[in-house]
Amino acid sequence: MGQRAFYQQYFYDENVYDLHDGGYKKLAMPAVPEKALAMPSVLQPDRVQGHEAWYTIVAQTGETAILPGKLTQTWGYNASLLGQTLILEDGWHYHVHIENHLPETTTLHWHGLNIPGPITDGGPHAPIMPGEAREIEFTLHQEGAQTDWMHPHPCPNTARQVWQGLAAMVIVTDEHAKNLPIPQEYGVDDLPIILQDRTYHDNQLDYEADYDVDGTLGTVPLVNGTVNGVFKVTTAQLRLRLLNSANRREFRLHFDDGRRFTQIAGDCGFLEQAIDLDRLMLTVPERAEIVVDFSDCQPGDRVQLMSDDAVLCTFEMDEFTKKAQAIPDHLFDVPKWQVDPDSQLQTTVMSGMDDEVLLDGKRFDMTRIDRQQLFRQTVDWEVKNTNDACGGMIHPFHMHGCHFQIISRNGQVPYPNETGFKDTVGVNAGETVRIRVCFDVLGIFMYHCHILEHEDTGMMAQIEVYDPKHPKTYDLKPMHEM
Ligand code: C2O
Ligand code: CU
Ligand code: CU
Repeated sequence: MGQRAFYQQYFYDENVYDLHDGGYKKLAMPAVPEKALAMPSVLQPDRVQGHEAWYTIVAQTGETAILPGKLTQTWGYNASLLGQTLILEDGWHYHVHIENHLPETTTLHWHGLNIPGPITDGGPHAPIMPGEAREIEFTLHQEGAQTDWMHPHPCPNTARQVWQGLAAMVIVTDEHAKNLPIPQEYGVDDLPIILQDRTYHDNQLDYEADYDVDGTLGTVPLVNGTVNGVFKVTTAQLRLRLLNSANRREFRLHFDDGRRFTQIAGDCGFLEQAIDLDRLMLTVPERAEIVVDFSDCQPGDRVQLMSDDAVLCTFEMDEFTKKAQAIPDHLFDVPKWQVDPDSQLQTTVMSGMDDEVLLDGKRFDMTRIDRQQLFRQTVDWEVKNTNDACGGMIHPFHMHGCHFQIISRNGQVPYPNETGFKDTVGVNAGETVRIRVCFDVLGIFMYHCHILEHEDTGMMAQIEVYDPKHPKTYDLKPMHEM
């Protein structure tokens, strides 16, 4: 093991952090007693046969103890809030029965899974009416193990439904991941860390009251739906699967004692090389897997995870039952995709703020196919954020149905933690990010700014991935006609 590269800054451009926004709300841990950090349980399949499994997912309403006093009305997947975690195996075939027990129409989007669109993928073309169900099936072909998630995607109600609580982690695993010397025991040393912010009004959510067209922010930090959570650490090392599933907030993560950690994965799998950091910024809905080593701690010691100057949760040391392992420098051979010389460079432009946000100068229209890309053709895209007026803001650009590689930022090498596959990239104001995109599933897919209120306002478009040998037609209707 050589000297690992160590980085001491947040990446991204300080000038365009969300905290410079007029509507910014600071996070602050309320004075509530500590409680055990919630650990979503693992959703068990209804049935498994060979490399095939059947699951039932129920979008439901419920009540959750979040703050002292009254229970909070919340929504979740197979749970009152957030959801149970799905652990999937790359290469397996899955059948999923999705039930909607909510009082309104929803969809279930598999953020990060390369599965056909627009129905299986679960975007706005795949509504499930209240009291109804939908069956989907897919074979997983990922570029490796990764931390993904599921969330609703009805147009234009994604933001409110996520705010209400719908979001669950989806872990994809494979043999390569299982053989790496990294923490692997779910809930013990391999933890989902779902980062969100909310505001409560007499312990209830009030999305309309807190709504911000540039992305709704809350002042209360939550990790896995817990406010002021404490996790008892029983192993010298923890692997944290960080998911920023806030509507808009950027999390600028660090530990209160400044300890270093090792980032091993980004959105869609392992980085080529592990890197050491003491600060990490995640825009919505980026993911990062980090490994933290507490070997230097004694039982009773406490280390807090922070964003800027707000505490998010606390790790409290117990007796360690497992020693730390050396994290390998090289984690994954990221295939070096070459752009197809017959392909055309694509340009996509995110512009505006407030209710003026546009993608390629347009508002989303479910009946319009905005562009096409050939199945399995590797194409470069330039993703521009022209929104540099009044300081501008970061727009996190996300694509369904594919993973991409980040080639450059304004012609410069990308950030050192962008060497793996991604499905979301935070694009700074005034910046052009070049990404390399290849789809190996067919269908209609969304691409959009993942600030949920921007998406709902219409900063979204759709691409058809086509195969001339298997032409398809799509009957695209607006949601109200379905
Ligand atoms: Cu998280 Cu259109 O997706
Ligand atoms: Cu998605
Ligand atoms: Cu945006």
